[in-house]
Amino acid sequence: MCGIFGYIGEKENISKAIIEGLKSLEYRGYDSWGVAIAKKRKVFIHKQVGKIGKAKLKKIISDCGIGHTRWATHGGVHKKNAHPHKDCTGKIILVHNGIVENFETLKKELERKGHKFISETDTEVIAHLAEEIYKKTNDPKKTALQVFKKLQGLNAIIILFPEDKAFYAIKNGSPLVTAKTDKAVILASDVQALLPYSQQVYFLDDNELLEAKKGTLKLFDLNGKEKKFKFIKTNFSPSQAELGKYKHYMIKEINEQPKVVEYIANHEKENIERLAKTIKKAYGTYFIGCGTSYFAGLAATYLFSKIAKRHVNAVVASEFSYYLDFIKKESLVVALSQSGETIDIIDNVKKIKEKGAKVFALTNVLGSTLYRLSDDKMLLNAGPEKCVVATKSYIAKIAILFLTAHSLSQTFEKGKTELEKTIPQVEKLIKSKQIKKIAKRIKNKEHIFVIGRGISYPVALESALKIKEVSYIHAEGFPGGELKHGVIALIEKGTPVIVYNPRDETYEDTLSAAYEVKARGAYVIGVSDKNSPAYNEFIEIEKNGEAIIIPQVVIAQLLGYYLALERGYDPDKPRNLAKSVTVK
Ligand code: G6P
Repeated sequence: MCGIFGYIGEKENISKAIIEGLKSLEYRGYDSWGVAIAKKRKVFIHKQVGKIGKAKLKKIISDCGIGHTRWATHGGVHKKNAHPHKDCTGKIILVHNGIVENFETLKKELERKGHKFISETDTEVIAHLAEEIYKKTNDPKKTALQVFKKLQGLNAIIILFPEDKAFYAIKNGSPLVTAKTDKAVILASDVQALLPYSQQVYFLDDNELLEAKKGTLKLFDLNGKEKKFKFIKTNFSPSQAELGKYKHYMIKEINEQPKVVEYIANHEKENIERLAKTIKKAYGTYFIGCGTSYFAGLAATYLFSKIAKRHVNAVVASEFSYYLDFIKKESLVVALSQSGETIDIIDNVKKIKEKGAKVFALTNVLGSTLYRLSDDKMLLNAGPEKCVVATKSYIAKIAILFLTAHSLSQTFEKGKTELEKTIPQVEKLIKSKQIKKIAKRIKNKEHIFVIGRGISYPVALESALKIKEVSYIHAEGFPGGELKHGVIALIEKGTPVIVYNPRDETYEDTLSAAYEVKARGAYVIGVSDKNSPAYNEFIEIEKNGEAIIIPQVVIAQLLGYYLALERGYDPDKPRNLAKSVTVK
């Protein structure tokens, strides 16, 4: 979703600095972009539809500027709707992330006062509103505070006052994080844009106003009273976020998975035991997440049932508000979120806390909103994940939840052994050419179905998501037993069906399902530790308890990746998708 970047400090080739900042935010997803740079008493503004690509702006030596990547909500993908937006005087420049829910009312009032609007966005309203307030206050700080108080909805804004060589940032929703070096103050939507400057960062809390002027950085509360900063050291390093020898972040991140598993198996026992104890004490545990994170939660319900003989619930975060009536003080919510910023998670966590229940966060981003809001937390330690589709963060969550279930059943060491056994399995799959060949063969198919039972069912769902997100082939996951209740009608000659069939208690029934689809012409890709005539293609993965779900998912990740390449799509930035969904 939208990305914000701001720089203020010593004079430098600022267009380059802003473009680089925006590029590091690209992975969040966007459709247009723009920059505004203060130049003496004037402002240079450039806006463009599409990707930044190799765009080179003219070199501008300046000490102050802002930039934005836009993911359209109000107003189509058009140059005039791209940010930054300005007021009628051109002295107030603004970038924004979020939705101004009362923008229509505000716009009408401002139009009555004679303001001229150029775009269809809710954002432009903020710039004109700031102009009105600034006329009265003649004070940028007071203006920023008063403007913000008039906005309804969840918003993050930076207002640039080029004449004052200052910008003000404030938010109550989408994240903003800042860093300060000897040379400059940098502000962005995401810690990754700050890594080239510093690892010491400060995440703005809701309703905090940041004032950045050359050489000074101040923080205020909503009443304008100065507050103290508490900078933290991020656990991401600049080199971790680089592509290195890989062509795409997706394949880089798939390759990093064995290391992620190894780290969790060997360094996280204490945190995992704490999570297990928290679950044991709770009266009702709910795992909430969106997309891939939800599927990790769903896998947890099977893991906890099978390994720890314990009932836990998984709910899609955007649906959780309708479950809140169940929540009691004794309930526990385990919030799963790679970014720690997904709005449906944050929104619900606030409501859960109001009800007095406990929130335990599993997130990849130290200092993220979820991290700060939660009563207890554990980091995924997967390193920065830049590909829009989640891979290594899913594996990290699965590894943690798998060991947590084992910890509850007092079998941590057994779990650790099984988990470590997945490392060579995953390495073998990554090296194998078999999945690439399958991708070549099925690249022109309209549908792909994935089936599994028991623990392999949530894997089927995550697998289908991986495949459709990057290849744009319609893919759907089903419990094997549901085939006869509808899906089988769609099977025709050559339809690929991936069948997860480990030799556990699901084996015989899943094998029957494989035969049933094969009898109707399906091209069956069997994933098992035992080959069968039911399969047209056999991918072997060794038997390894419930840890089997790790190599199973890796197969779908690789298949999705190769299908995207075969079909000519960029696997890192699938159309219409955003990495961090910070608006509803
Ligand atoms: C978006 C991303 C997915 C991700 C989901 C949840 O939809 O494209 O890859 O799984 O958000 O994100 P989170 O950061 O909360 O895990």
